[in-house]
Amino acid sequence: MPLEWREAMTVGHTAIDADHRRLIEIINRFEARPDRLHADRTARDLLAYAQDHFPREEAVMEAIGYPLRTLHRIAHEDLLGRLKDLVRRYFLDPAGGGGEEALVAELRQLVTDWLVEHVLDMDLGLKPYLRPAATGTGLSGGRGVVVKQGQCVSWGVEHGQTRAFLAQFAAMDQGEVVWQ
Ligand SMILES: [Fe+2]
Repeated sequence: MPLEWREAMTVGHTAIDADHRRLIEIINRFEARPDRLHADRTARDLLAYAQDHFPREEAVMEAIGYPLRTLHRIAHEDLLGRLKDLVRRYFLDPAGGGGEEALVAELRQLVTDWLVEHVLDMDLGLKPYLRPAATGTGLSGGRGVVVKQGQCVSWGVEHGQTRAFLAQFAAMDQGEVVWQ
């Protein structure tokens, strides 16, 4: 069944939301014909999409001073790296990569992570920063900081997945989350 865009997926920035709809179209086109030929087309579409969309989203994050922009940029590099690695192994290296089934499974995993872990998780973290009118200040709930040895190493405004994010960062940094 094709994926459908839902209001809850809206970040609140017209161009970014239009890009995310485009990503869903790319995924749906692949899922309609998940074979080698369409995997090739999907990989090309995703590369073009990433090279267009990531810089746009990063410029918006920079412009609004989004506090998690560095981590977000690293997540973009990671997605692009996974995609380029897949292209190299399945389409550029004649000896490597495995069969069509493996290619389809790997591409399906990549686009699922891209949509679920990135768009529906990390990108939605931008939402409170893009809707200042909605809450008066643009910020709702508390502000959490990750503290390690008395130093603040990361922070975020409570919204959606922010608590889970900060818990992850705290675990990675062996620090603790303090909500203010
Ligand atoms: Fe993003």
